[in-house]
Amino acid sequence: MNIKDHIRGVPDFPKPGILFYDISTLLAHPDAWQVAMGRLAREVRKFQPDVLAGIESRGFLVAAPLALKLGCGFVMLRKKGKLPGKTIRHDYALEYGTDTIEIQENAVEPGSRVVVLDDLLATGGTLAASIELLRKIGAHVTGAASIIELNFLPGRQRLKELDVPFTSLAAYDE
Ligand code: PRP
Ligand code: MG
Repeated sequence: MNIKDHIRGVPDFPKPGILFYDISTLLAHPDAWQVAMGRLAREVRKFQPDVLAGIESRGFLVAAPLALKLGCGFVMLRKKGKLPGKTIRHDYALEYGTDTIEIQENAVEPGSRVVVLDDLLATGGTLAASIELLRKIGAHVTGAASIIELNFLPGRQRLKELDVPFTSLAAYDE
């Protein structure tokens, strides 16, 4: 099965000239989603995680079922102000302005092996910030993974600079 047959490219979203790769069609197809999760599980297992971290919001859709499959814990990395209790934040630069992600203070035991999951790797800004946040709380980030990867953007290079191995199921050249 080719995962790409189940991913829809939506032109001019969210801005004119951008081709948006949409996993909705993959999620809606139970057999294809099952295959995708099976393949990702095989790759992610190699990073020997104790915990999977999902990045709000589409990363949750990937990380939560995978955590069940691998028998790992699951933690949420959320946009600011969404998590109750004490949180640790990390601010990061966007093309214009900054953004912030958060995790609950005791969500991960220091030294735990954590793999970070998202639906898509583009510039790598979101995943890089997530890795930095997890490192702040003492996690050992052993890998990162996504369904989709955009080869024409520097995401993979950013993760390499952070020394985090990365894997994806479907890479696009344009
Ligand atoms: C998208 C996508 C990734 C991120 C990738 O999320 O789901 O999380 O952008 O981009 P980057 O590699 O350039 O950082 P978005 O911010 O659109 O939010 P959502 O997941 O809540 O839809
Ligand atoms: Mg996202």
